[in-house]
Amino acid sequence: MILLLALALGYALGSIPFGLVLTRAAGLGDIRQIGSGNIGATNVLRTGSKALAAATLLLDLLKGVAALLAAGALWGETAGLVAGFGAMLGHAFPAWLGFKGGKGVATGGGVLLAAAWWLGLGAALAWLATAVVTRISSAAAIAACVAAPVIALLAGRTDLAVFAAGIAALVVWRHRPNIERLLAGTEPRIGRKA
Ligand code: G3P
Repeated sequence: MILLLALALGYALGSIPFGLVLTRAAGLGDIRQIGSGNIGATNVLRTGSKALAAATLLLDLLKGVAALLAAGALWGETAGLVAGFGAMLGHAFPAWLGFKGGKGVATGGGVLLAAAWWLGLGAALAWLATAVVTRISSAAAIAACVAAPVIALLAGRTDLAVFAAGIAALVVWRHRPNIERLLAGTEPRIGRKA
């Protein structure tokens, strides 16, 4: 019962579509009609607003952090992890948007950071290194997804490796259109306007 509550709390927090809310509030229209149609920071950047993209990144990350920490404080460590995964589900499949949400990179980063700071940091560094080399956000996200479970395994935390692999599986699944574009060589580089 407590784990279901944790899942619901995480889902509710994760389902707040900050990218959509912020771009609408700024009068930029519906982010789902722009660029890739995704509600995340990478696509918000395609509107030309760095400030809104940064705010989307931060808020999407913080909702993952908040879900895990709140449920963890209320009901213990396992509930925290369940709420973190709930936040991922809420972000990817928000009821308010017909279950069509984002790809979970920033929220997943926040969840990993709150689960273990070194794990979130390691995944973020993998994202950054790949982004610097490729200038492609989705390639960086996939690299971070591969890196996170490996980092947890190297640290001897099999439990966190399994958790990170679950998060990564969802993120990679949500990147199916990006993977098709990467293979076709048509995936746009970071910051290219829509
Ligand atoms: O964080 C999402 C990113 O990896 C891809 O976003 O808009 O290029 O599909 P987008």
